[in-house]
Amino acid sequence: MKKSSCKSSLLKQRAFSTAKLREFWNDFSDDYVQEAETLGIPIGLDLYELTRARKARRVIETAAGAGTASAMFIAHLLKLRSSFVACDLSDEMVSKIQQKYSDLSMLSDKIKYTKLAQEGKEEIDLCNFDDDVKNIYALRCSNEDIPIKDEQFDVYISNFSIHIVSDPEAMLREAHRLLKPEGTIGISLWKRRVESPFFKLFPEILRENGGDISDDYSYFNMEGRVPSYLEKTGFKSIKKATKYIHYNENVENVLRTALKTPFYRESIRANPQEIVEQSIQEFCEVYSREYPPEEEMMHFGVEICIANK
Ligand SMILES: C[S@@+](CC[C@H](N)C(=O)[O-])C[C@H]1O[C@@H](n2cnc3c(N)ncnc32)[C@H](O)[C@@H]1O
Repeated sequence: MKKSSCKSSLLKQRAFSTAKLREFWNDFSDDYVQEAETLGIPIGLDLYELTRARKARRVIETAAGAGTASAMFIAHLLKLRSSFVACDLSDEMVSKIQQKYSDLSMLSDKIKYTKLAQEGKEEIDLCNFDDDVKNIYALRCSNEDIPIKDEQFDVYISNFSIHIVSDPEAMLREAHRLLKPEGTIGISLWKRRVESPFFKLFPEILRENGGDISDDYSYFNMEGRVPSYLEKTGFKSIKKATKYIHYNENVENVLRTALKTPFYRESIRANPQEIVEQSIQEFCEVYSREYPPEEEMMHFGVEICIANK
């Protein structure tokens, strides 16, 4: 496989190894589907629109999670007799993708091939596939090392993953390698904490209570930097957009779910449980006072970046 020659370190390496991330996301997958997945679906659907994936012949989505957004989207794609590859690092997520696609009668007979690919050992040659057959694939692999040949896709999508992978630079290099010339990438990430009062307030209260939350694990420190990283990786026509997800759920439940996510869990683990509990209670009081639920919907800021190879 051809690897890009871009050697400079564009992005700081994250705190977790790929193996650790897989373990986290395997453990968290059931809770993710039950409590968190709906939050990201509107942005996933935006990415399909903004990259014009609906009209593409071959689309890859990495860190696809449990595949709910893609299951909605694939129906459009199949009308064009196109191919769709969904990848995720977590075995549990890939099983959920497989299950989701198989449960949809519209899709069940279209799944040509699903496989838990062995990273580094298997190379899937999409060139050999019959273009007249509609294909859907689900692969277990990391964003940084995808076992597919170069220049296979018209569109590459990744919803809420660049800020959590171990090596964001390698992720972008892989995306560039996999896209055909002029192919389109669409990715999303959280904006800084200040753009999401919900995310901003909890660390402040935790710190006031004598606790701490490490920014090493922060989901929120990449906003504004991705366009220049895309450029350095070789992408052009780079555009970005801001979106807000509005969410109408119980504030305490949303916070408790957020605290179970891998990075929050790791970043607060050194705090005594009493401090965390006290901070959760105070957070709910302060948040409801500052953003009264009858007046204001919870909102989360998202950055979307679209570019071409
Ligand atoms: C926040 S979820 C987003 C899932 C999905 N894109 C969505 O919007 O619902 C992050 C996903 O990234 C996956 N993931 C984490 N690190 C990864 C990596 N290095 N390579 C591929 N997937 C990864 C996790 O297993 C999880 O499914």
